[in-house]
Amino acid sequence: MNPLHRRYVHGHSDRESERLYYQASKLAELLHHDTCYSPGSRVLEAACGVGAQTVILARNSPGAEFVSVDISPESLATAKDRVFQEGIRNVAFRRADIYDLPFGPETFDHVFVCFLLEHLADPLLALNNLKGILRANGTLTVIEGDHGSALFYPDSRDAHRVIDCLVQLQRQAGGNALIGRELWHLMTDAGFMDVTVSPRQVYADCSRPDSVEGVKHIFITMIEEVRKEAISRGMVDKETWEKGISDLYRTTEQGGTFCYTFFKAVGRKEG
Ligand SMILES: C[S@@+](CC[C@H](N)C(=O)[O-])C[C@H]1O[C@@H](n2cnc3c(N)ncnc32)[C@H](O)[C@@H]1O
Repeated sequence: MNPLHRRYVHGHSDRESERLYYQASKLAELLHHDTCYSPGSRVLEAACGVGAQTVILARNSPGAEFVSVDISPESLATAKDRVFQEGIRNVAFRRADIYDLPFGPETFDHVFVCFLLEHLADPLLALNNLKGILRANGTLTVIEGDHGSALFYPDSRDAHRVIDCLVQLQRQAGGNALIGRELWHLMTDAGFMDVTVSPRQVYADCSRPDSVEGVKHIFITMIEEVRKEAISRGMVDKETWEKGISDLYRTTEQGGTFCYTFFKAVGRKEG
């Protein structure tokens, strides 16, 4: 096994696929409203997973040609079905490893990456590989979260502890759940020009029921998925876990607030 390949901390369950679809559709406007590729351009979507972002990307740019890749054949098969069912025809799928891309230099006009770097042992190497297959003046767009950006009321030490279990598990798997804040340095260190990073904030209180549902089904569900592993590894005891999760749900009830920031970076390959 390639030493750079790590266990994918969220797994490939149906529940996780549903969470990714729900996340992509709920965040489509916030994350994608300013991503549109011109007709005829060739775009690589690196790590498409089950195709949750693919559908949005391809719909926003119907004249562009997408190649969507992922290392997981199961996820790719699901993505292919999903995109076909949605009636989208401007996407081709291919199995590929970001560390060993099967494309020649300067094959693509643009590259799009979402929620991938946080899982990689060497995100800088991945960015350099992506730069290699981009044409001069082509763009790279990267979207990542940052679990350290979760702020909430009522505040709770136990809620922070359960979030930290996921951060630690992801670190042990070689990833970095706090990578959003690092996009600027990663993109500039990889040699991209004109880098811009824009924070995209989700804020929920009971006057925004849609956002509250998003917090429950995207963020809290993601934390709940690591319950078994966190407890069995002794990171936290069962009582603290239950209290932490219950405190997270409390932030979605009357008087509670929850805030989370995604980071979107765009850079250009030197001409
Ligand atoms: C959190 S999912 C994100 C999927 C999709 N971009 C989305 O936002 O819904 C991360 C994906 O990265 C893929 N992945 C992990 N390591 C990879 C690698 N070395 N090369 C290609 N894909 C990889 C996983 O298989 C998984 O589908």
